[in-house]
Amino acid sequence: MTTPKEKKMLYCNILLLLCALPAIISGFILEFKQGDTTGINWTWIHIATSLGALLLTCIHVQLHWGTLKMWRKGLAQLRTKSTKFMTYLYLLTLATGIPATIYIIAGHGHTHLGGIHGKFGIVAAIFMFLHIWKRLKWFKNRTSQSAAPLRLKVDADKCKRCNLCVKRCPAQVFERQEKQVVALHTEYCFQCRKCVAHCPTHAIYE
Ligand code: HEM
Ligand code: HEM
Ligand code: SF4
Ligand code: SF4
Repeated sequence: MTTPKEKKMLYCNILLLLCALPAIISGFILEFKQGDTTGINWTWIHIATSLGALLLTCIHVQLHWGTLKMWRKGLAQLRTKSTKFMTYLYLLTLATGIPATIYIIAGHGHTHLGGIHGKFGIVAAIFMFLHIWKRLKWFKNRTSQSAAPLRLKVDADKCKRCNLCVKRCPAQVFERQEKQVVALHTEYCFQCRKCVAHCPTHAIYE
């Protein structure tokens, strides 16, 4: 089963991986190189790949809006809490990396901001490696035919039939029946957890 949104997520994540890895590696080279003997302009390689990764990260995060809502409602699990921490670190990396780029483009050369950016960048990169490492199974699932959807159920006692899950699930997993709401097509679920985030009575469980 592959929904259009799931395909978008797969392509976006593969491109993001291809862009983020050279961005992180070139960042590390910039931080640890002792005098450049290679003649390669690592700063520009780093800026170009980082900007590409930034664009793809925006799309990536937009595709996970459901999870972000979950954080707000305090329903996040540890897995997503560490993603949250990584997001803050990434924002700090951006807040220092973008001005450093502007200084370089404006001809002011390297400033102390670059050094601060590098420190944030290294910590963010460690979390990014963990973020990717923990999701290698996701890539494996999506590229083989056996994606693992969430086997969600609705607790009929807690459900107040507000229909939010029916409306919000992008994969149309839920169905309103005469007396209850059921998770009928769990095979289409692509784990966005929007339903869990929106359910006001926490009636949806795995
Ligand atoms: C560096 C390259 C990155 C790769 C390859 C990557 C890959 C992935 C994958 C495979 C997933 C789970 C599958 C899915 O539902 O799409 C995921 C989830 C997520 N990623 Fe990333 N990601 C990267 C960077 C980032 C960054 C920089 C942020 C935040 C600024 C971010 C935020 C999220 C969020 C919010 C989720 C959903 C929550 C979760 O599963 O923990 N990702 N990412
Ligand atoms: C993927 C996240 C990123 C990581 C892990 C990262 C890491 C690093 C590291 C370790 C350095 C070396 C710092 C030093 O020379 O002491 C660096 C330099 C630099 N980064 Fe990033 N960076 C990231 C994202 C970005 C972004 C999004 C931009 C903005 C487009 C950017 C722009 C720069 C610039 C201009 C420098 C050179 C700074 C200077 O030497 O003055 N980086 N980065
Ligand atoms: S059932 Fe829930 S987690 Fe699965 S696709 Fe629908 S909203 Fe997302
Ligand atoms: S969002 Fe929760 S309470 Fe509302 S219909 Fe769905 S399961 Fe029931």
